Amino acid sequence: MHHSDYCIAGAGIIGLSLALELHRRGATVTVLERNAPLAEASYAAGGMLASHDPENPAALQPLADLSLSLYPAYLAAIESLSQLHVPFQTYLTLQSHPTSTPADTKSLLPQLNPGSHTFVRLKERSIDPRQLGQALLAAVLSTSIALHPHTPVQSIRSVGDAIEIQTTTSTFSASHFIDCTGAWAAASSNLPSGTVVPRKGQMLAVALPSSLPLDLVIRTPEIYIIPRTQGPNAGHVVIGATVEDKGFDKTVHPIDIAMLQSSAAELLPQLADATILETWAGLRPATSDLLPLLGALPHRPRHLLAAGHYRNGILLAPATAHLMAQLLTNETPAIDVAAFAPARIAGLLST
Ligand code: GLY
Repeated sequence: MHHSDYCIAGAGIIGLSLALELHRRGATVTVLERNAPLAEASYAAGGMLASHDPENPAALQPLADLSLSLYPAYLAAIESLSQLHVPFQTYLTLQSHPTSTPADTKSLLPQLNPGSHTFVRLKERSIDPRQLGQALLAAVLSTSIALHPHTPVQSIRSVGDAIEIQTTTSTFSASHFIDCTGAWAAASSNLPSGTVVPRKGQMLAVALPSSLPLDLVIRTPEIYIIPRTQGPNAGHVVIGATVEDKGFDKTVHPIDIAMLQSSAAELLPQLADATILETWAGLRPATSDLLPLLGALPHRPRHLLAAGHYRNGILLAPATAHLMAQLLTNETPAIDVAAFAPARIAGLLST
């Protein structure tokens, strides 16, 4: 049997970031991934570090603020291990916000047709999650973290002071198990079915037209437009996203993609004929209050969750790794985590 201090399920950005943080603190770490690393929501994400999106639940703010403050050190640690630079892609977002003082969009972006929207300037950054994922994976692989792709968790049980995790091929043992499987957490941790549900988002990337020099994000409640300005995807513009309850279905529908492109073109008419480079769909892990689940299950102190990050997994990865490592090592968490405790979900109290 393989034993480590910590066994993490899920090699998305949350699981790998936590693995790296625990390893940095001197622990032995195993990561089990049912599929390939970074193949799901982390790959599909837009990458906006949208800590002040008015659509976020108010209770998310301290976690979002902590994560933003940790981002530079988080990236520096990944870059130093991977030797791969992960730059911020944008530094400004125009956010539709009817009640605030409007930004001078004419001078900022003359091509923008605001229509009925009033936009405010947010000093908000974005990142390319695929570039981040590549560097994060390289960082993890440069360490002694044991990463097992294509190894789904089948069952978890407490045995004395340890947790035993059964997969299709082997049994793993650890002092703590942390479920970071996003939309799959209810299944892999055997939780009531509605605890974390997949919420589908269809998206597309188009080629940035030469008539549209775009170096900022535009966001309304219906649509966001994110230019990639550097790295392998420079010159691409990501447009998203639908929000759908369709279970684990990730089918991309041309009619929905056309609707997204046409909504983007209402704001930036040059995008109407932009060449589509890629279409895809991802599954956001949603909880009933749209806040993540961070901490131990009510009656299972060695079985923790770090899942349910909904639309903000890329933003929240550094704070999640930091807080979970603090909880696991009995440090006082940097912020009050009561709002994120799994025990707040009534259905988990009897698990
Ligand atoms: N984070 C972007 C989205 O959920 O569509």
